Amino acid sequence: MPVENTLEQLRSTSLQELEECTSKLELEEWRVKYLGRKGHVTGLLRKLKNLEPLEKKIFGSQANQLKGFLEERLVLAEGKLMAEETLAIGENDRIDVTRPGRLINVGGYHPLTKIRREIEEAFISMGFQVVEGPEIEWDHYNFELLNIPKNHPSRDIWDTLWVDYRNERGERNMLLRTHTSPMQARIMEQEEPPIRVIVPGKVYRYEATDRTHEWHFHQVEGLAVDKGITFADMKGTLYEFARKVFGSERKVRFRCDYFPFVEPGVDMSIDYLAPGATTHDWLEIMGAGMVHPKVLEGVGYDPEEYTGFAFGIGLERIAMLKYGIDDIRLFFDNDLRFLRQF
Ligand code: PHE
Repeated sequence: MPVENTLEQLRSTSLQELEECTSKLELEEWRVKYLGRKGHVTGLLRKLKNLEPLEKKIFGSQANQLKGFLEERLVLAEGKLMAEETLAIGENDRIDVTRPGRLINVGGYHPLTKIRREIEEAFISMGFQVVEGPEIEWDHYNFELLNIPKNHPSRDIWDTLWVDYRNERGERNMLLRTHTSPMQARIMEQEEPPIRVIVPGKVYRYEATDRTHEWHFHQVEGLAVDKGITFADMKGTLYEFARKVFGSERKVRFRCDYFPFVEPGVDMSIDYLAPGATTHDWLEIMGAGMVHPKVLEGVGYDPEEYTGFAFGIGLERIAMLKYGIDDIRLFFDNDLRFLRQF
């Protein structure tokens, strides 16, 4: 067939097919069929090289014109299709701007997360760093390095959940940490003084649950070791913490208490007004004390050179106090009616 006719035919069939395209996909198929690398127009242009020079010149320019023309038409067809689609959206999904919107569920922080962050900020502002440690722990760190030897009655303070594991001597020596204090030993073992750290984390006890007891809860451990640290430094730091988290009006009280890894040991209470009550009461929120010389020795420090204080804050206690929550189990129930209050 003479090239002339071919050109004419190509123009009319391609245009007709373009008219019939009703989607982007079809337009793309059309483009490939006619203008693509293996398309008809491209094929034709390629064939021109076999023609006489004069013919080549004439038909060459015509074929190129056709190519340009079809490209323009494609752009137009694309534009038209888009306009139609936009119109259809307006018709089908008309937006009623007067309708009230749907409520969006906004996520929030768990009350324990909020309290933990507040406590962290209070101590960070006093120069402490925040570190974390393992929840599955060795007897060595949870007890022995903390001056709580095997079979010593002081172990009874912590009802322990043991991991079903025995070492090569057949001893059960792996447990779920009963407090965050093992991190005291881990940190001192790794670092040289001066040390100022807090360790927020989860702890576990083999305990029946009721309104004030859970078998898992959270603590924030604190440790400061340096030359010349005194009991007064500890009181000052903890008092400042109470002031920052509970306000300047709050009173604190220290009483003697026993923990094998501190000497002297204390517990700290804070005066608080229970929801609905008229008189203040004391609520114990942490154990604390001066790091026991045996603990310092155990991690290779010289107790003649260094002293320090440590404390362990019960997070749930503080959240209950601050938010007026009367049942510790609520923290772990994932009941949205409870969680939405914060
Ligand atoms: N680890 C102790 C407990 O869980 C609390 C504590 C920490 C006491 C640090 C003194 C110093 O009961």
